[in-house]
Amino acid sequence: MTPAPVELTVNRVRRSLDVPDAERLLDTLRWRLGLFGTKEGCRSGECGACTVLVDGRPTLSCLTLVREIEGSAVTTVEGLANDPAGRAVQKAFETEGAFQCGYCTPGFLTALTGLLGESGPDRDVEHLWGDLQGNLCRCTGYVAIRRAVERAAREAP
Ligand code: FES
Ligand code: FES
Repeated sequence: MTPAPVELTVNRVRRSLDVPDAERLLDTLRWRLGLFGTKEGCRSGECGACTVLVDGRPTLSCLTLVREIEGSAVTTVEGLANDPAGRAVQKAFETEGAFQCGYCTPGFLTALTGLLGESGPDRDVEHLWGDLQGNLCRCTGYVAIRRAVERAAREAP
């Protein structure tokens, strides 16, 4: 029997997806929906490049089956501009020059947007920074990324 389509909202658009049981969210986003902003790194939960928001929570799309999140709202880096905090995070990274090749950047932007949403008005930068330790960057040495996190913590609504 053919499995029923999976209903998801992706960047505010309702989607009905015919996917195999074992399809990962990362592959659905990139190869079915053409949302190539979400990056594929290790595919094993080690690098954070594939981070998206699922119902607002930072989630590794390489470790998430699409069928596990039926009915959820997914936000990728392409959808962050819809969110005031997402816009502030993008602006902070731009202002601080917090990227070089940019491969890790979508993961940092989505993860930080989700963490700011969860943290409320009293933001502890050390706590945010600790929660970003699963996001790896091979280029920057993290100094500018750290400044961008501090700026976003101050400026995001
Ligand atoms: S690609 Fe998902 S954590 Fe590396
Ligand atoms: S900017 Fe190149 S991996 Fe982070």
